[in-house]
Amino acid sequence: MELKFIVEGQTRLEVPASERFRTKAEDYAPSMTPVFYNPRMEFCRDISVSVAQVLADELGELLICDSLAGVGVRGVRYAKEVKGVSKVLINDGSSEAFELIKQNIGLNELAPLAHLQNEDANTLLWKNRGRFNFVDLDPFGSPAPFLDAACAALARRGMLAVTATDTAPLSGTHVRACVRRYGARPIRTEYCRELGLRILTGFCQRVAGKHDLALIPVLAHATLHYFRIYLYAQKGSQRADGVLKRQGYVSHCHACGRRILTYDMTPELPGICECGSRLSHAGPLWLGKLMDRTFLGKVTADLMRRNFKLKAGEIALLNRCAEEAEGPPMFYDTHKLARCVKTQPPKIAELISKLQKLGHFASRTHFSDTGFRTDAPVDGITRIFRR
Ligand SMILES: C[S@@+](CC[C@H](N)C(=O)[O-])C[C@H]1O[C@@H](n2cnc3c(N)ncnc32)[C@H](O)[C@@H]1O
Ligand SMILES: [Zn+2]
Repeated sequence: MELKFIVEGQTRLEVPASERFRTKAEDYAPSMTPVFYNPRMEFCRDISVSVAQVLADELGELLICDSLAGVGVRGVRYAKEVKGVSKVLINDGSSEAFELIKQNIGLNELAPLAHLQNEDANTLLWKNRGRFNFVDLDPFGSPAPFLDAACAALARRGMLAVTATDTAPLSGTHVRACVRRYGARPIRTEYCRELGLRILTGFCQRVAGKHDLALIPVLAHATLHYFRIYLYAQKGSQRADGVLKRQGYVSHCHACGRRILTYDMTPELPGICECGSRLSHAGPLWLGKLMDRTFLGKVTADLMRRNFKLKAGEIALLNRCAEEAEGPPMFYDTHKLARCVKTQPPKIAELISKLQKLGHFASRTHFSDTGFRTDAPVDGITRIFRR
């Protein structure tokens, strides 16, 4: 395999020279190589490093498992760039990945801190029950096949970091695949990416419930082709019950844009909207907060201290997440609402300021540049549009 040297954060790595493996212009270069490395995920990995640092500072120690490691970039970066890490176990089922991870651990002189393994991720995680306080799941496509084992491997307090690249099923393009993988129904709406993140979160929480484990999201973002969630984990049956009480369904009206939230796992859902149209339903899914402002503040402060190439974009994302953190679920889209009321969309900053002056929560959202989040009722919002 032809390799090249790169630097991500403070870490030097050997990765496949993916341009050599591409045969056609439309080939997706990272998936053509014998070992997977996607340079476009550096953005996501930088944020993961800062998240791990905040957790290490909070817990005083950190035992990390990078269970699906590829070239080992996440695990090696955690070991090299996060202070207070006690151990990082870096695993990949592929023998070629294993050899490359070994090289990358050596290149960064991380031998006592970083350990490596060449096993099926589920076997490894089950064998290490209750051991890690940071488990990173970064699979091809859906994390669903690994979640049970990941929850089992978590210690009494810690964090689960999950990536999903199967955003099409989660966002309602492939309904049956979403129901099959996540036991939840999506709908295709202007806020379908938020619905997808909430379906994924809700699924992780229900799997964790089997382990009497409560998972609370502290940061969740939809970027490029992937979703990424960081869930704070704590053992306790009552805590896990408390989480499930904040799951439920969203009933959406495609005609007027109204959304009705129902907090229950087996509820009776409303059938008809106030405007007379039929409602569509999504769920079960997480209806609580996706972000924790205090946590985001700490992650942003850590990112500011670091010398990352993509820092400006990463901080801009975290700032948007912080703006919308205290808002209600399900953002609106100015263009969609304008079409519903047959008018021009207002300037988003003016709209937000008007809603705030009326005493409502109103903010932008990281999900969309034309989106906004508010607790104002849909009729109140459309009144502003008509004016
Ligand atoms: C998306 S890649 C990981 C990317 C990597 N975390 C990064 O940030 O570049 C997924 C990896 O999981 C590995 N993998 C897939 N199924 C596995 C399994 N059941 N057990 C262990 N590794 C597996 C693949 O070999 C691949 O390297
Ligand atoms: Zn309606």
